[in-house]
Amino acid sequence: MSELAERLVDAMNAIHGVHPGHRAVHAKGSCARGTFVASPAAAELCVAPHLQGDEIPVTVRFSGGSGKPTRADGAHDERGLAVKFHLPGGSTTDIVSLTLPVFFVRTPEDFLAFLESQRPDPETGKPDLERIGAFVDAHPETRLAVGFVMMTMAPASFAGCTFNGIHAFRWTGPDDEARWVRYRWVPDEEAATLTDPETRALGKNYLHEDLERKLGTGSIDYELRVQIGEEDDDPNDPTVAWPEERTWVTVGRMTLTEFADKDCEPMIFDPGRIVDGIERSDDPILAMRSLAYGVSFERRTSVGD
Ligand code: HEM
Repeated sequence: MSELAERLVDAMNAIHGVHPGHRAVHAKGSCARGTFVASPAAAELCVAPHLQGDEIPVTVRFSGGSGKPTRADGAHDERGLAVKFHLPGGSTTDIVSLTLPVFFVRTPEDFLAFLESQRPDPETGKPDLERIGAFVDAHPETRLAVGFVMMTMAPASFAGCTFNGIHAFRWTGPDDEARWVRYRWVPDEEAATLTDPETRALGKNYLHEDLERKLGTGSIDYELRVQIGEEDDDPNDPTVAWPEERTWVTVGRMTLTEFADKDCEPMIFDPGRIVDGIERSDDPILAMRSLAYGVSFERRTSVGD
């Protein structure tokens, strides 16, 4: 398993290059601080400490998906929101989400093959579109996420992006009842997109500058919603969205008030970092993420040793 994690990070490096001190993917990020307050409905669904209604400090990191720290913010990419809840007593728990509705592949082995299909051709320095097309043809489950990356225009602001947790987690309530849930961060700000000429005119860092500007004068707010899985909803397949008409419950609000620039860069945000009341599914992608994030963290923090 951990050898596969090393190979996944190597494959990411082959696509994006090695950038000492930076994450293997999601290399360009900005940090912010604020608070999360759970709604009364949350405590009925889950006994986890951050879901009981107390004000919980959070550190978040907004990022673009690329492993290139200088990548322009207007690139056609997925975007990430990593949230760390600072719990009473000093421990933490994380939710690490994407603008994608689903993930590209079902297994870490498929992810390695998918990344390898994107390795730039040594002669042209560009990815071989035929090789990527062949992978997608052989793995129809990748189409939704690939289509999303190709078709979606760049956002005008991180503050208007909706982020999905993608994996399922099992929440246990005070009545001992357990349910599968999937997370979604829904912004107060209305979503808006920009054309390529518009993003070029705004400059390479417009999303991060917008974040700094907005947090300098006000707050950025998100609702945390959970989608409750039903019997037919597979908790272990991150390539399939559960039907939208499933019950959604608003379980809390996050209010970001402080721009923290690069302060959280040394942190690791790991979706496998959970607390009592929450369990992981058997989704093999989820299990691999903790290992691969550990490899990337180890490499980026041992620079200069
Ligand atoms: C096997 C599949 C995956 C692998 C191998 C992988 C690998 C990685 C790695 C190596 C990093 C850098 C970690 C660090 O240095 O701290 C990262 C960051 C990230 N990944 Fe993944 N990832 C996978 C799936 C996913 C999925 C399914 C999501 C969303 C649900 C996701 C969202 C993110 C986000 C938002 C970040 C940036 C976190 C931060 O700001 O610190 N990844 N990923």
